[in-house]
Amino acid sequence: VQREMSSLPRVYITRQIPPEGLKILSESGQVQFDLWDSDDVPVPRKELLQKVKGVDALLCVLTEKIDAELLDAAGPNLRVLSTMSVGFDHLSLEELKKRSVTSDLLPLVGMCNGEYVGKCVITDCVVLSPSLPPVSMDELASQSDFLTVCCALTPETKDICNKDLFSKMKKTSIFINTSRGGVVHQEDLYEALSSGQIAGAGLDVTVPEPLPTSHPLFTLNNCVILPHIASASYTTRNAMSALAANNLLLGLKGQPMIKELKL
Ligand code: DGY
Repeated sequence: VQREMSSLPRVYITRQIPPEGLKILSESGQVQFDLWDSDDVPVPRKELLQKVKGVDALLCVLTEKIDAELLDAAGPNLRVLSTMSVGFDHLSLEELKKRSVTSDLLPLVGMCNGEYVGKCVITDCVVLSPSLPPVSMDELASQSDFLTVCCALTPETKDICNKDLFSKMKKTSIFINTSRGGVVHQEDLYEALSSGQIAGAGLDVTVPEPLPTSHPLFTLNNCVILPHIASASYTTRNAMSALAANNLLLGLKGQPMIKELKL
């Protein structure tokens, strides 16, 4: 049994993920895994760099930077990366791309999908989105009563919610951000809120996280700030954990992942 176990692909999991995902991995009989056994504090970087040595797959969350240093520490066995998140700004896509071209390492990146976000957000309203019949950002800003940002943070979306956008919004509208703090120019948002340019904001994400309580946004009574917990229901997090585990197993078998980030 010992011999069989040690020949199974090795997986490192960077967080005590919800039970559904751990159950899928254990019951698969396809992998052996080790994990940072806490859902409280992220794995310290030094420990992470040690633990990833020689692994075949890595299941991470958004607190881990997956960059050149980490990929070098993992070494050439690493072929699957599964992130328990819909966001992927913690992954250095350039490094992953470079390695998939220049070496045997073919990182497959599995990620959770945005459907759970959509289900939570869209209830009984007319939805305008740049991805439905295309609507320009100007139309989006000028027509929305609630402007909700759910996009990924990429070089193209950094700071897209800035004074230009806020100036086109109705004075009665509410701005909501559940994606990443980096899509918002926070000083411009502060100005828009404090001058009455827009009516209010609800932020689940900020730069930095957590936002220091001395930050000017905390002085406003028309801004509600949460510590990045929009997906933190047992149901959602369990579903994310199951999806991340299934993606990882499929990737290791060389089969298409349920949700795969095309590099
Ligand atoms: C995500 O999925 O990217 C969220 O921000 C983490 O819950």
